[in-house]
Amino acid sequence: MNLIPIAKPYLTNAEADEASRVVLSGWVAQGPKVKEFEEKFAEYTGARYAVAISNCTAALHLSMIVSEIGAGDEVICPSMSYIATANSIRYTGATPVFAEVDPVNFNLDPADAESKITSRTKAIMIAHQIGMPADIDAFKEICARHNIKLIEDAACASGSSYKGKKIGSHSELVCFSFHPRKVITTGEGGMITTSNEKLRDRLKLLRQHAMASSSIDRHNTSSALSEDHVELGYNYRMTDIQAAVGIVQLSRLDEIVMERRNIAANFIRNLSDIKWLMMPEEKEGFFTNYQSFAVRVHNDSPVSRDELMLRLGEKGISTRRGVMTAHRETAYKDLYSKLSLPVSESASDNSLMLPIFVPMLKDDIGKIIERVRGIFRET
Ligand SMILES: Cc1ncc(COP(=O)(O)O)c(C=O)c1O
Repeated sequence: MNLIPIAKPYLTNAEADEASRVVLSGWVAQGPKVKEFEEKFAEYTGARYAVAISNCTAALHLSMIVSEIGAGDEVICPSMSYIATANSIRYTGATPVFAEVDPVNFNLDPADAESKITSRTKAIMIAHQIGMPADIDAFKEICARHNIKLIEDAACASGSSYKGKKIGSHSELVCFSFHPRKVITTGEGGMITTSNEKLRDRLKLLRQHAMASSSIDRHNTSSALSEDHVELGYNYRMTDIQAAVGIVQLSRLDEIVMERRNIAANFIRNLSDIKWLMMPEEKEGFFTNYQSFAVRVHNDSPVSRDELMLRLGEKGISTRRGVMTAHRETAYKDLYSKLSLPVSESASDNSLMLPIFVPMLKDDIGKIIERVRGIFRET
């Protein structure tokens, strides 16, 4: 039986050729290709600056550090997100304070997030969940009123837009992922966009051990450069091999997003009359890249989420459970044993992801639609 995978990176000979060119050039670590990728990513998103990082988790961690967040501080974020969102806060010694999400688009609920602000709150971290933008302006307004920072976890949101502008251009610290499960990939990889020159400079410093001179500076000089390490730094660099792949991927990002949106539109057109399923909803001004296509199963459905997954799996259609909740994971549950987030828990437990990737065969799209329809018809 042919298996339809949940996701597949869209990589071609062009990426392989560019990676090969870098390998053969002899300069494989962070260098000119990383710089070019940063410039092109900033231009694409409309951000002033972009800083390439080894992955999005590290990007979030550095964003916490440059926001001066540390032990004793609180950061409000969704529990219903990939665990890296909350982990990046804990790395600094600060405490993630979990707020509820919207039951349909799975993004942080501004009112609930605001209700959790205390004198210790230093920031709100929003996540554009599975590519659907959160209501950035609502959070900007709350953060400005309470004089706290806004950090965007845009791991899934390359190519998404909010109010006509690309994600990456709206606030000071926006973190992206290029993991293969994302819309474009560099194997592993991340990027931070920022409008703030000082933040850009500190991010660049921290990602390379806080070494005052870069590898390129040292390579290009014949004089003995002193290599002072000016604060506690990290090795969070991207390689030029990854960046070369990223440049090609970025050149196709809009095309990939349009194709994903066509597939999603096809699913919505053909599944939305099933009354026990809730389709993703894109409100006016919100433009998603459909990094994942999640459907929610109603509580009174004759077919449960798990049964639906099982029966699709039997026919060779891969699915995944909905976005996890961090507070119920072993690494968190003792710390949050008294916390109940009914909206997030129900959204997580009753949703599933259907396969979506580019290119996807028309026959496979048809098979998924037919099988889902068939399962509900048989009940
Ligand atoms: C919302 C969110 N944040 C952060 C991450 C972490 O990204 P990375 O794997 O690049 O560290 C992911 C990855 O799945 C994610 O979905």
